[in-house]
Amino acid sequence: MRISVIGCGYVGLVTGACLAAAGHEVVCTDKDTVKIGQLNAGQIPIYELHLDQLVTRNCLEKRLRFTTNAGEAVRAGDIVFICVGTPPLENGDADLSAIDSVARLIATEVRTPKLVVEKSTVPVQTGLQLRQALAVYGRKSGLAFHVASNPEFLREGTGVEDFLHPDRIVIGVDDESAEKSLREVYQPILQRQFDCPVHPSVCPPQRQTECMVTSINSAELIKHASNSFLALKISYANAVSDLCELLGGNVEEVTRAMGLDPRIGPHFLRAGLGFGGFCLPKDVQAFIRLAERVGMDFALLREVEGINKQRIQRFVEKIRRALWVIKGKNIGVLGLAFKPFTDDIRFSPPIDLVRQLLAEGAHVTAYDRAAMERTRTVLPEIGYGKDPYEAAANADALVIATEWPEFSVLDWERIHGSMARPLVLDGRNLLNPAFMAQMGFEYHSFGRAQ
Ligand code: UGA
Repeated sequence: MRISVIGCGYVGLVTGACLAAAGHEVVCTDKDTVKIGQLNAGQIPIYELHLDQLVTRNCLEKRLRFTTNAGEAVRAGDIVFICVGTPPLENGDADLSAIDSVARLIATEVRTPKLVVEKSTVPVQTGLQLRQALAVYGRKSGLAFHVASNPEFLREGTGVEDFLHPDRIVIGVDDESAEKSLREVYQPILQRQFDCPVHPSVCPPQRQTECMVTSINSAELIKHASNSFLALKISYANAVSDLCELLGGNVEEVTRAMGLDPRIGPHFLRAGLGFGGFCLPKDVQAFIRLAERVGMDFALLREVEGINKQRIQRFVEKIRRALWVIKGKNIGVLGLAFKPFTDDIRFSPPIDLVRQLLAEGAHVTAYDRAAMERTRTVLPEIGYGKDPYEAAANADALVIATEWPEFSVLDWERIHGSMARPLVLDGRNLLNPAFMAQMGFEYHSFGRAQ
């Protein structure tokens, strides 16, 4: 099929590359001409596993291309996927101005009818607005547009794997032809008829994908309801972790046993610094605002947000208790990205933590294998280590802020020898307390016995 993708951020790039890998002919566009220039020069502007491989191969095989000519891009496809950003406004609402601009672009530039698919995360009823906008902006052409919602469930860092081996594909439509077209788009993925770049051990062939057809409103709600529920699980685990600290329990034992119940499930129960990134915090906020606008107080989600906001402060308190005085202390910080396997620092808890430590007068040296370049632009005043050891050298405390697996297998003897004080504060419960004690460290984490 011929597909246009508007927006080359995390979602758009992964969507375009994976649809090309599935055999479709894809053209991607973005208003950021620098980004399109990089992509055309073979550079991938984001850190995402397997994406470089997919982009290179599909460009070479001429199934994928990038252009700054947005009009040409939207004319090229029979289906247009909207993958532009919907960042939060001051009041927590999603900013839909980019979707509105794309609607105008499509309606004024295309010459033949198109199926326009929302992939960006949008509040319920955006599909209705989009349909209306396309009709208004395109009134002179008289073209009929079909609209569908096809939310993405991609996690940054494993986006390619999630796209090619999804648990579910949600197709929100209100007419049969849109459903037929989207089923055709996803047929190779549902039937696994494509050359998978992801190692089979990561994507076991037995993983089942459910394709669910819903109304457009339901599809839009599914996305916000899913992300908000994930956030709720994390805040629940964090509240239980605080109780464990107060009453003497081990949150790892508690959440592991909880997760063995299939009704609860083991995922998203890791206690620590809380959730960040460009999806969960803004989607929870947008869902609360959405409810508010129709007269419902989603107090449950306000609490989820509240618990999450306190995480950094709780951690700083732990650091203060351990160090007594933070001002003037050297603190090494391992991890800056909002989670491992990404260079994304948007709404990143580690970045908030560093800002807080700086505000208290600490000297910070940080290390992150992927996110240092981006962090330098927002935190030029801190030091950066060339590896975790440099960040730890001469530190009065070493903090683990992102759970990159490499931090669990460091040479702790070497670190012990190089620190001014062998004190480790683990904001992600990555390390084993018994092991750290055995190595001679004073070690603090969340919800576990010291
Ligand atoms: C999230 C969802 O997981 C995806 O399904 C969704 O498609 C995506 O948002 C989106 O809306 O586009 P992502 O933002 O990549 O994906 O990040 P997550 O893997 O969900 O992690 C979010 C945050 O929660 C991270 O800061 C992570 O460290 C934290 N987290 C996660 C915990 O604190 N504890 C956990 O148990 C799990």
